[in-house]
Amino acid sequence: MNRPVLAIETSCDDTSVSIVDSSGFVHVLLSASQDSEHAPFGGIVPEIAGRNHTLALLPLIEKAMGQWGHGPADLAGIVVTNRPGLIGSLLVGVVTAKTLAQSWNLPLLGVNHLEGHLLAPFLRDEKSAPPAGFTYPYVGLAISGGHTSLYEIRALGDYDVLGATKDDAAGEAFDKFAKMVGLGFPGGARVDQTAKGGDVKAFAFPRGLIHEETFDMSFSGLKSASHRLLTSMTPEEIKARLPDLCASFQEAVVDALLAKLDRAVSAAAWPRAILTGGVSANSRLRERAQAWADKRGITLVIPPLRYCTDNAAMIGYVGALRLARGETADLRLAPSPASHPGDFRRSRP
Ligand code: KG4
Ligand code: ZN
Repeated sequence: MNRPVLAIETSCDDTSVSIVDSSGFVHVLLSASQDSEHAPFGGIVPEIAGRNHTLALLPLIEKAMGQWGHGPADLAGIVVTNRPGLIGSLLVGVVTAKTLAQSWNLPLLGVNHLEGHLLAPFLRDEKSAPPAGFTYPYVGLAISGGHTSLYEIRALGDYDVLGATKDDAAGEAFDKFAKMVGLGFPGGARVDQTAKGGDVKAFAFPRGLIHEETFDMSFSGLKSASHRLLTSMTPEEIKARLPDLCASFQEAVVDALLAKLDRAVSAAAWPRAILTGGVSANSRLRERAQAWADKRGITLVIPPLRYCTDNAAMIGYVGALRLARGETADLRLAPSPASHPGDFRRSRP
């Protein structure tokens, strides 16, 4: 039997627990969202996130073990996201994982959250599986509220960062725009919904660094341009033109992301790519990315939403693979707000 691990993810504002094995099979995945706790503040409040993890985590672990129907002795280890993320949030997961590993006498391992996102396409369950033959190496674009980065993923532990946003993450840009037009927080999904039926060419928004010879991205110019445009409009005009505003803004983000993905796939010369992170839920991005992939003859994997947004299954999968090759941590395992120096390589300037 391929014994699974118990995985814990608390790096930001979602509390998530999973039981997953090194084949990528997800036995159980349970997550608790804190969106309603942070919405009144218009963004994630780190202290609130940490406190809610302490309330949600143990009941979630108990429920996951109950659903799985086996005991700790059937686990291969305890895996936890220990970097990068909000330190107070990471700490809750790390302390809990250490306590469980110690009391259940199981191996312990800390995993990089972004590595989890990058390997999410291999996750499978009773309802979904990766496309047959999908394998390393591939290009990965991780797009969330905190990260927007482009990678070459060659094998487990062999990752080259091609580029990243120089300022705001794509999800952050969506959330800020949503706030400016009065759609609330987190606003990405609401912008997506409101954009349906809007005219993508109604307003001209900038596409940062789109023609530059770089894999880096930039969304701060888009934010400033949005701010300038919206302050020149009356609240009534904004309301009346909301679908057009959202559609035009969204198109600019999608253009900027796809331009860099296209560039990366051309440079890598591998016909395989993935989109991952919360922003890959965006319906326009999914539609246009698929059309781009079909046209270019590229196998594009966008994992199901439950594996795109922050989840413990992706963390457990990486941890299970690493435990299987003999890696473990001891009780000195510490949370870190940033990735460790050896986690990713940057071979291009
Ligand atoms: O990966 P995620 O769940 O959490 C982290 O930030 O790590 O990503 C959340 C981000 C938020 O910025 C949210 O607004 C954005 O993903 N998002 C979307 C959509 N759904 C979620 N952005 C655009 N369109 C969507 N449909
Ligand atoms: Zn994430």
